[in-house]
Amino acid sequence: MADTKAPVERPLSPHLQVYRLTLTMVMSIVHRITGAALYFGTLLLAWWLVAASYGPPAYADVEWFMGSIVGRLILFGYTWALIHHMLGGLRYLIWDTGHGFGPSEREWLVRANLIGSIGLTIILWVLGYLALGGPR
Ligand code: HEM
Repeated sequence: MADTKAPVERPLSPHLQVYRLTLTMVMSIVHRITGAALYFGTLLLAWWLVAASYGPPAYADVEWFMGSIVGRLILFGYTWALIHHMLGGLRYLIWDTGHGFGPSEREWLVRANLIGSIGLTIILWVLGYLALGGPR
């Protein structure tokens, strides 16, 4: 026989709306997003290498695309995603050793990840342009 008693008010399990969004949470999501973006960046890298092996006309196409404003923006984003994801990987490595879980340490690590990735990306691009003798 079915239970005819009135339904009991049970506590709900916590869900996303209950939590305050923290920088650590956002950076966890960004780590996954940059990881997914790296798949597309790797395709670009493969296109560049395959074109180099095909010969001058194929390579000229890659050079044209990578040299365009859109191409440069994509390459800049790829550089940032790669560095951000790599630094994030090192952050996870530190956590894997059991360190850096205190509230201030967590915050410090994610901020270092974010600021470090932006700084290193800009430095790398400035050095790249200097090596080429300035913007073209
Ligand atoms: C082109 C190179 C790479 C690609 C395509 C890539 C892709 C990804 C993707 C898609 C994820 C998310 C997986 C998920 O959440 O289910 C991920 C996670 C991760 N990646 Fe990468 N990755 C690359 C390079 C690296 C490098 C260089 C490092 C370390 C220096 C790294 C460290 C990690 C770590 C530690 C995680 C797991 C984070 C977690 O526990 O949530 N990855 N990667």
